Amino acid sequence: MKRTLIAGLCALILGAVPAGAQWGPRTIPEPTDGLKDAYKDYFKIGVAVNNRNVAEPDQIKVVLREFNSITAENAMKPQPTEPRKGEFNWEDADKIANFCREHGIKMRGHTLMWHSQIGTWMYQDEKGNLLPKEEFYANMKHHIQAIVNRYKDIVYCWDVVNEAVADSPVYPGRPELRNSPMYQIAGEEFIYKAFEYAHEADPNALLFYNDYNDAEPAKSQRIFNLVKRMKDAGVPVDGIGMQAHYNVYGPSMEEVDNAIKLYSTIVKHIHLTELDIRVNEDMGGGLRFNRGGANVADWERTLQQDQYVNLFKVLRKHKDVIDCVTFWNVSDKDSWLGAANYPLLFDENYKPKQSYTAVKGFDPKMDNFVIKEDFKPSELNQPGQEYPMVNSQGFARFKVNAPKAKSVIVSLGLGGSGGTVLRKAEDGSWMGTTAGPMDEGFHYYHLTIDGGVFNDPGTHNYYGSTRWESGIEIPAHDADFYAMKNVPHGKVQQVLFWSKSTNQNRVAWVYTPPQYDQNKKKYPVLYLQHGWGENEYAWWNQGHANLIMDNLIAAGKIEPFIIVMTYGMTNEGFRPGQMPRPAARPEGAPAGGPGRPGGAPAGAPGGAPQARPARPAGGMGMMMNNGFEAVLCDELVPYIDANFRTIAKKESRAMAGLSMGGMETHTITLARPEMFGYYGLLSGGTYNPDEIAAVGESPKTVKGIFVGCGSKEGPDQIRKAAADLQAAGYNAKGYVSEGTAHEFLTWRRCLYEMAPMLFKK
Ligand code: G3I
Repeated sequence: MKRTLIAGLCALILGAVPAGAQWGPRTIPEPTDGLKDAYKDYFKIGVAVNNRNVAEPDQIKVVLREFNSITAENAMKPQPTEPRKGEFNWEDADKIANFCREHGIKMRGHTLMWHSQIGTWMYQDEKGNLLPKEEFYANMKHHIQAIVNRYKDIVYCWDVVNEAVADSPVYPGRPELRNSPMYQIAGEEFIYKAFEYAHEADPNALLFYNDYNDAEPAKSQRIFNLVKRMKDAGVPVDGIGMQAHYNVYGPSMEEVDNAIKLYSTIVKHIHLTELDIRVNEDMGGGLRFNRGGANVADWERTLQQDQYVNLFKVLRKHKDVIDCVTFWNVSDKDSWLGAANYPLLFDENYKPKQSYTAVKGFDPKMDNFVIKEDFKPSELNQPGQEYPMVNSQGFARFKVNAPKAKSVIVSLGLGGSGGTVLRKAEDGSWMGTTAGPMDEGFHYYHLTIDGGVFNDPGTHNYYGSTRWESGIEIPAHDADFYAMKNVPHGKVQQVLFWSKSTNQNRVAWVYTPPQYDQNKKKYPVLYLQHGWGENEYAWWNQGHANLIMDNLIAAGKIEPFIIVMTYGMTNEGFRPGQMPRPAARPEGAPAGGPGRPGGAPAGAPGGAPQARPARPAGGMGMMMNNGFEAVLCDELVPYIDANFRTIAKKESRAMAGLSMGGMETHTITLARPEMFGYYGLLSGGTYNPDEIAAVGESPKTVKGIFVGCGSKEGPDQIRKAAADLQAAGYNAKGYVSEGTAHEFLTWRRCLYEMAPMLFKK
């Protein structure tokens, strides 16, 4: 139990980023139901299979769980089924068809007529001369009707003709159709004939014209023109198949939306027939096979997930005409593109990717959510900077100028999203809005531009994730408690103290209450620690600890006390070979003084770290002996007691910390029970009475214990711990911040709730 609790806490703390945008491949639990179930009210979810997929048990499991429409990737094509005139080979096709019959899954038939994977006997004689039209038609009719009749019980629709429209550019006056042998023999009519023959063989089957680059405006117009002419000629064409071999850079969702709107003016059925989204700039049916293993960067995964999520949002909007979306292969291992292109929702081990969870876990309410256009610049922006902006619903909007970039991603975004992908505007600027409201309060973030990590030039910087990051503030409904009001203000000053144990000067920021300089009183002291990746700036710069104190003191809600905030050595060992050193103060950052941005720029904790540093083995082990205990208890406390008017005794000294700072508090207060009379863990785990008793402490000697976290962090353990401590006689308080996660508004509220219980007379 204790180990799992600490491991869970470690994972949370080491990932001290806004829960929303955490990223990096995470193992997705084995799904219990499938995409087909999530989309049952929208459209079928299909998959193209090879014969292994319907033979290997682990692959069959994925196919049956996820999909309710199946396409034979190759087995039902002209060449594999009739390699020589009149010689049919149904073996592979039958295996797949029988699998579908056995499991009651209907099939999309692919494909009856195509310029590729077809025996040349279909359209030319032994000498290679093109056959007379009627002979070609006879061959085509015989083939089409043989295969359609054989599978009419299991196939509910056919891609009758595939890829007959010419690729762009097609110059004016040039034929809009591909100059295939069939076209050379019969012109456009061969297409009409193919549909007639198929319809004759199975009048109930839906018949599709199928092609790629289906959203590219010029080609989609030519596809529309062809099907319009067919419709006008009375050809039995029921639908258009958009192959949807897309990539992470395109098409844009506007192009997909426009193509669907165009096609839906002439057909009632549109299928995405061969969906995959590769992580490179290739597009369409063009074959750039790459067998190499997937070595895809996190930002490319983010782009891919964003493209998949936005695509399915467009498709859900058109559920009236879209009635089947088929992935072209089950997993990256089967993909015609090769695993290196990373194109599907299942990786090469048939494990679901994060993008699978995002596509499946859509929130229908957000599909028609209207974003209020009352955006205002964030209060953390640099002077005169409009962006980023925040609206009254908590959506954040970003604008970045990067004319030559291919991709711009903001690391802040919805849970598991990897961030917010911006779109390029004509003027070379990139803009985008979070897919949903962000939690209230402060958020770190950074930009990833074509894989490079940069800060947003629009905001001040804040130290986090072991670098100075950008920051944005989503106004909180209860922000008044940390507002900068016209009340007496305390001071935040920087002190440098010598550390013998680390052989260097170290920095601490000290908050003294408003009256400190006007009297000779001695004050209790709270040692307040930041989290992983942050530093001694965090609590006053992002946490507004000084303003929270000023307002509580002005309201007479607390006994004034001193707060000391120093670097907790939490980031050592995360960058191999980096020696512990106090964080360098950024250019222009104030030497002491109140930490409210806009007043004076200051450091910046991290949003979603892309390049997460390697995790040192045994986080706990490192935690236990990162040397901070000695720095705090044997060097800083004596320095503060010697240089400030403190009540230098245990019951007038408290230690509290957020996230990993909470773990440090837990470890040091139990290792040095003689030092602190009050303990505070803010999203930093809990205490239980036994472990306190085990170090000889009791409710008599420990005056107060505060444990708190955000409601999105699994608050039950907090409530239980507080109840257990109270039952054991401790003055314990448990607090849960509503609607927040592992982020600073949680900790601002925790400080506000904890301060009144400290040093009570
Ligand atoms: O079956 C033979 C096997 O006997 C031989 O040992 C092997 C050696 O090369 O080739 C096998 O045939 C391969 C066939 O796939 C079955 O795996 C062909 O070489 C290979 O060219 C063929 O590739 C297929 C491709 O169409 C042909 O153009 C891909 O798997 C298939 O995913 C792809 O699918 C097309 C759609 O039908 C239409 N839209 C574009 C899409 C992607 O190109």
